[in-house]
Amino acid sequence: MLKVDVIIGMQHGDEGKGKVTHHLLRNGGYTHCVRYNGGCNAGHTIYHNGEKFVTHHIPAGVFFGVKSIIGPGCVLDIHKFFNEIKTLRKAGIDLSDKIFIAKNTHVILEHHLREDSTETKIGTTRTGNGPCYGSKYSREGSRAEDFPVLEPYLIDMYQEFYMEHPNAIVLCEGAQGVELDIDWGDYPYVTSSHCTTAGACLNGFPPQSIRNVIGVAKAYETYVGSKEFQPDSEIFNALQVAGEEFGATTGRNRQCNWMSLPNLEKAIKLNGVTNLIINKMDILENVGAWSVYADYKRHNLFTFQNKEQFCTYIREYFNNVTVVFSDSPERV
Ligand code: IMP
Ligand code: MG
Repeated sequence: MLKVDVIIGMQHGDEGKGKVTHHLLRNGGYTHCVRYNGGCNAGHTIYHNGEKFVTHHIPAGVFFGVKSIIGPGCVLDIHKFFNEIKTLRKAGIDLSDKIFIAKNTHVILEHHLREDSTETKIGTTRTGNGPCYGSKYSREGSRAEDFPVLEPYLIDMYQEFYMEHPNAIVLCEGAQGVELDIDWGDYPYVTSSHCTTAGACLNGFPPQSIRNVIGVAKAYETYVGSKEFQPDSEIFNALQVAGEEFGATTGRNRQCNWMSLPNLEKAIKLNGVTNLIINKMDILENVGAWSVYADYKRHNLFTFQNKEQFCTYIREYFNNVTVVFSDSPERV
């Protein structure tokens, strides 16, 4: 029987999903790695064998020789895809027969890039994602199977998972996070794809195939985009510097704020999270402050004396999921 684990961003992206994906893949067991939403708006920072890689399209599975697929829930920039392949190949990462694109994945065209290039209301990554999904849903889009240059990479997800590999064990790698989800995020300050477990299912994985849902959060929140998110206080500038909070795709500053526990709880419930990872604990330790919001709107704070109190409170708050606290990925 097909088995699927899903990695989901619990906040606004940049929670450290790349690190968790990498860790799970390294520890084996997966036959496939599937990116299930988003496109080159995402930047996955991965430290592999002491080297830093930022991938936008290509799933982390390629680092471990796991068959990797860009799923039909994604949108693809062909030019950036080939550039990424070139960069990885130069770094000695063998991609032969390892990287595939679902034939029904939509493709970002010139006019999508143009339309997105002057966008300011949301503060998009200007990578053509929103307009491409727009074309998809208005039934005017083009899919990977329409481009001969992609022919060697095309895959039929149904054939792959239901005819050739019915016992596949799949790691679904999410992009962005629940607060950027088109339906459940802070609309309109959202991305145009489904960042939830349901979004992974849309790639051809039925609910019964889902085994573990790994929610990845950061010990404080960051957001990149046009809305005001960071309160006016020195501590958040300190967090930004200590946490190196600059976007992996656009280099923009990530606005910082404390984590909201009710928002995190909502993300856990909406996605059926079984395991929660809270990253970058070392950064809170570094600035010496342990606070979380007790409400959705981020007005009322709980403040703790130290890391132990912080962790104990969070473990008790989310007592029906397994919580793991972790640090920043190793730097090189
Ligand atoms: P778009 O996805 O480029 O349309 O951008 C919509 C919103 O999502 C903007 O606020 C972006 O900054 C944000 N966004 C998109 N992708 C990412 C990501 O991978 N990490 C963090 N924010 C993202
Ligand atoms: Mg990112």
